[in-house]
Amino acid sequence: MSETIAAAPWITLTYLVTGICFILGLKWLSSPSRARQGNQIAAVGMVLALAATVLSGAIHTVGDIVIGVVVGAILGVVGARRVKMTAMPQMVAIFNGAGGGAAALVSMMDFLQTERGGFAFTPDVAVAIALSTVIGSVSFAGSIIAFAKLQEIMSGRPVAFPGMRIVSALVLLFIIVMAVLIIGFGGGDGALYALVAAALALGLLIVLPIGGADMPVVISLLNSFTGLAAAFTGFVLGNDVLIISGALVGASGTLLTQLMSKAMNRSLFNVLFAGVGAGGGQAAASTAGGAVRSTTVDDVATMLAYAGQVIIVPGYGLAVAQAQHNVRELADALEKRGVTVKYAIHPVAGRMPGHMNVLLAEANVPYTQLFEMEQINPEFPRTDVVLVIGANDVVNPAARTVRDSPIYGMPILDVDKAKSIVVLKRSMRSGFAGVDNPIFYDPKCAMLFGDAKDSVVKLVGAVAKV
Ligand code: TAP
Repeated sequence: MSETIAAAPWITLTYLVTGICFILGLKWLSSPSRARQGNQIAAVGMVLALAATVLSGAIHTVGDIVIGVVVGAILGVVGARRVKMTAMPQMVAIFNGAGGGAAALVSMMDFLQTERGGFAFTPDVAVAIALSTVIGSVSFAGSIIAFAKLQEIMSGRPVAFPGMRIVSALVLLFIIVMAVLIIGFGGGDGALYALVAAALALGLLIVLPIGGADMPVVISLLNSFTGLAAAFTGFVLGNDVLIISGALVGASGTLLTQLMSKAMNRSLFNVLFAGVGAGGGQAAASTAGGAVRSTTVDDVATMLAYAGQVIIVPGYGLAVAQAQHNVRELADALEKRGVTVKYAIHPVAGRMPGHMNVLLAEANVPYTQLFEMEQINPEFPRTDVVLVIGANDVVNPAARTVRDSPIYGMPILDVDKAKSIVVLKRSMRSGFAGVDNPIFYDPKCAMLFGDAKDSVVKLVGAVAKV
């Protein structure tokens, strides 16, 4: 059976400092200019927590912990350095799954050791063990499926069968029965293994019917599950820092899930149960009428070079094309000519929270040029050219007017209010939501067809010649 670790006052104090580091980390992560420092201070907190735990004297297998830390650190560093920005959601999924699985395993081990040692549980610990095992196992299995879908190891489409919801409800009922057996009647190894198997099945049943493109929202939800599982494991072990950090992850994951759903104008229920988004990004070509005006690199370069203010709207296609460095070059070239350049950041542009911020930070775009939707929207009417680069849904005015549109009610960037609009994309295909975009038929709008990187590289060259 595990021992209570947070005994000596210096350990409690160190855990308190760790908690403060994590809170500051989360706070700073919400601002682009301090996000790096936020990450660093959270990492310092983690090192402090690990050091205090190892030195606390309550751990009898320090060697094993050190091996775990070294292996984990190597995997983390290599993974973080090698992953492409567009593959970040699946990396978060797999790391999250590992966290949930670890929380469940620790609680299981505590249960088995206590049982085999002939000790009895207090009811609060039994409840914490059951909850941490269930939630951690659900998060583990769900995250593995999320990873497999996003990594295209399996189809990203919703996988469902008739009566799936009934099966899920029965599995949930079985989990409750096993948990009651464990908590109320001392359970036994068999009940614990059955509980874990059912929780793993529930994780699969929750995530399989969700379309791959909705996965970022689900990953955020699973992330909050892992936080809760870790917090309950903290109760099992009597470890304050695990309770604090688990609660922080649980709360921030829940908030992020809500924010993402709200910014997409979807309820979480809709994301989880509607199967919407199954065809995200692969919807059919546009059907709405109107003439589309195609333009050339030279024409756009001239418009940009003689503009007073240009707003760049980055979207998912910019990330796909990896054109962020070239966009920065274009902005620099325009600024040298006295053009004011600003970037408009929509909260759900791209495929993960903060996607555009991270992308532009990679190209060292100054934070002072980045403006959130509420700040930049009043600026569009006095903007000469809006350059929409690989964005679609986040500038779609149908969100304001078309009641049966899946994006109806989603707040958008008001690019249609600018004096002229240029859209860089490869075709007339729709974006994630699979809906047509009336802006492409607006007489003020011209389409520069082609891969965003190719087009921007050519624009940089052409602006230099104007
Ligand atoms: P989308 O609406 O998905 O549109 C992206 C556009 O980029 C597509 O229309 C595509 O058109 C174009 N594109 C793709 N590759 C390109 C390339 N190499 N060069 C040039 N263009 C390219 O993107 P958005 O406006 O950023 O909106 C994001 C959507 O994702 C929203 O509906 C949002 O709700 C959803 N979503 C967001 C998140 C988060 S947290 N950000 C999570 C889940 C879902 P072509 O194929 O014609 O080139």
